[in-house]
Amino acid sequence: MSDIKTEINRRRTFAIISHPDAGKTTLTEKFLLYGGAINLAGSVKGKATARHAVSDWMEIEKERGISVTSSVLQFEYDNYCINILDTPGHQDFSEDTYRTLMAADSAVMVIDASKGVEAQTRKLFKVCVMRHIPIFTFINKMDRDANDTFDLLDEIEKELGIATCPINWPIGSGKGFKGVYDRRSRSVITYSDTQKGTKEGETSIINVDDREALLSHIGEEAEDKLLEEIELLDGASAEFDLDLVQKGDLTPVFFGSALTNFGVEIFLQHFLEMTTTPLPRKADIGLIEPTEHEFSAFVFKIQANMNKAHRDRIAFMRICSGRFDAAKEVKHVQGNKVMRLSQPQQLMANDRKILDEAYAGDIIGVFDPGIFSIGDTICMPKDNFRYEGIPTFAPEHFARVKQLDTMKRKQFVKGITQIAQEGAIQIFQEFNTGMEEIIVGVVGVLQFDVLKYRLENEYNVEIRLENLPYEYIRWITNKDIDLNAISGTSDMKKIKDLKGNPLLLFSHEWSIGMTLDRNKGLELAEFGKNE
Ligand code: G4P
Repeated sequence: MSDIKTEINRRRTFAIISHPDAGKTTLTEKFLLYGGAINLAGSVKGKATARHAVSDWMEIEKERGISVTSSVLQFEYDNYCINILDTPGHQDFSEDTYRTLMAADSAVMVIDASKGVEAQTRKLFKVCVMRHIPIFTFINKMDRDANDTFDLLDEIEKELGIATCPINWPIGSGKGFKGVYDRRSRSVITYSDTQKGTKEGETSIINVDDREALLSHIGEEAEDKLLEEIELLDGASAEFDLDLVQKGDLTPVFFGSALTNFGVEIFLQHFLEMTTTPLPRKADIGLIEPTEHEFSAFVFKIQANMNKAHRDRIAFMRICSGRFDAAKEVKHVQGNKVMRLSQPQQLMANDRKILDEAYAGDIIGVFDPGIFSIGDTICMPKDNFRYEGIPTFAPEHFARVKQLDTMKRKQFVKGITQIAQEGAIQIFQEFNTGMEEIIVGVVGVLQFDVLKYRLENEYNVEIRLENLPYEYIRWITNKDIDLNAISGTSDMKKIKDLKGNPLLLFSHEWSIGMTLDRNKGLELAEFGKNE
């Protein structure tokens, strides 16, 4: 048993979040490089896939079979076993991106130093906050002209509502980037441009009190500024408090340049020290401790294979406790079935391998003949508990679906319901009618194309999508309210989800507040319950 404990305790499972182009891929590549998982950075994944035009996307997915956008990368570093959950770029942005965060124990937020907090970071950050997981900030691209450091920290605090604690501090930026000052050791690590593919850079470490050495390395102007900033910083910034970090109330901040490989390893080392081992998870029988329970897992993502010839799906599970043994039978709780998981696999850098065992903290993908749903629990045959469901995240784009050939009604309903069950889209109905009028909601617009493509190719049904002007959705959470009596704004629409739960759509954010004002007692939620 102690072996299992050791294995679990050396695991670190985190997601990287950022706005596209902030440098997430580059940073991941460098992590892998330090882990020795690849020889040359640059081969992590088809980075270009995130940037392909929508039309290319289908071809890419077909070629790839199972999407690599779902990448979970595992590598070893300094006796840690690290699982990185990749969150796809803006073209691929979907509810899956949010769900991926449900499987992580912490998040690394990459911010472009010249842009600050951007839209996508803000969205993903909300989910991290909801889960109270630790968040680490890497401010990237210091080799380019950056915003003022204090302003960057201020922006994170104000926009995201989290306290910041700089672990290191940049000295200049762009052409004048000289390195970083490490606050704990009171030393300056000088910048060296270590290009792609090599680990070692020519850096010097200088004690900040050794003024002569400092002067000769960074020059008078940078030295003066640094000393002034250190004084300000020590007086003004939050104290480092590991407890607050682990609760997600304080984010440690690091500066560096992923491209030139500066500050990446320091970040990785600190991060591994400060982040958490696999976290316990809530189930209906209480908290399940990773090292106390035998194997259990939950499904957080289902990926349909776009290849028509193999209409199979992969269910991605996060192992929450114990050790997974591919030879043993497990129970799918929601299906009430004891079974052996088929072709369990793990993605390692750009490889996929069938595995025999895995531990709490790991992510495995298994062949799914169509039995799993998002949020399902898998445990040992003798056990019987369910993990808390994964919330339904608010879609931001809506369209009415028009079926072109009304004779194919059955295929249409089957197709759209199945695609919705996989969680790629959400479907809704007019409040007072049934399935004859379907409204589809997505988190990222690319999903509209995915829906159209899949209905045509897999179900032989053609549709037309009419965009609707709504952008905000709220679930009505009070059960006892008279739905017909709700008086809303002119841009409000009442709909229901597949389970009959009532929802409201709005075109403008301010209408939500007005509707709440006009209907005393009305309770609205941004996330739905997926149970
Ligand atoms: P993403 O996954 O977050 O979308 O970002 P990605 O790593 O793909 O980086 C986006 C662009 O920013 C890339 O340039 C990359 O080389 C560059 N970049 C990443 N980190 C740094 C950094 O620390 N400094 C500088 N100066 N640039 C950085 P690109 O020209 O779009 O792609 P490529 O032609 O270099 O592959």
